[in-house]
Amino acid sequence: MSVEVLADPAALAVRAADVIAAEIGQKPDLRVLVATGNTPMATYAELAKRADLDASQVVAVQLDEYLGVLEDDPRSLYAWMRRSFVEPLGVRQVVRLDGGADPEAASRAFDAETQRLGGLDLAILGLGPNGHLGFNEPPCGPEAPTRRVGLTPESLASNAGYWPDLAVPREALTAGMPTILNARRVLLLVQGAHKRDVLHRALHGPETPAVPASWLRRANTLVLADQAAHPESGGG
Ligand code: F6R
Repeated sequence: MSVEVLADPAALAVRAADVIAAEIGQKPDLRVLVATGNTPMATYAELAKRADLDASQVVAVQLDEYLGVLEDDPRSLYAWMRRSFVEPLGVRQVVRLDGGADPEAASRAFDAETQRLGGLDLAILGLGPNGHLGFNEPPCGPEAPTRRVGLTPESLASNAGYWPDLAVPREALTAGMPTILNARRVLLLVQGAHKRDVLHRALHGPETPAVPASWLRRANTLVLADQAAHPESGGG
């Protein structure tokens, strides 16, 4: 695991876009796990500005979805991924984690499809306020499979900010921990002072089910954090 600290969210987005663009440059059919949430949006917008980037062979793999939420629902994470990443970048192939299907069948179909692809090249992740990755909510071991999960109070509270007028679904589907940890490379994006404590635990605390992101030390992980989340001085 390596950590780079960037001055602010704008610098983080440029650096993250550089990393992702370089991966696509080296492997045009990159198989990439795509987080939604607030953190990676500036990175995706930065990528979309790069006229020389050809992502037409990239395979975008959905990280998580609310249970029972269909594509035309404003809360659909699939639709959010399409709007922010797939369409602006001209990606043509998507592996979906379908919140509208039977949860067990959707999880097995997702795993079968990612295995058929030979696993993932890159996982782009944000960090939950409780240390979750995707919706791998604590407590969560490194073997936790793709599955149906109940959201913790921390996740319900943080996701409520995405749609102030709509209820946050209480359950979700998430790509499992092995899907994430076995990616050839993991890119964890973390910004804001509200992530400082959980990032510190993920980087320096014990590897523990209480902080799912702590398992990323077992993967080929690059953490990009802004100074608010990872102060370079003052004991961060
Ligand atoms: C989103 C996801 C979540 C978020 C995390 C951070 O697809 O899987 O794990 O990455 O909750 O969310 P933000 O970036 O909104 O702080």
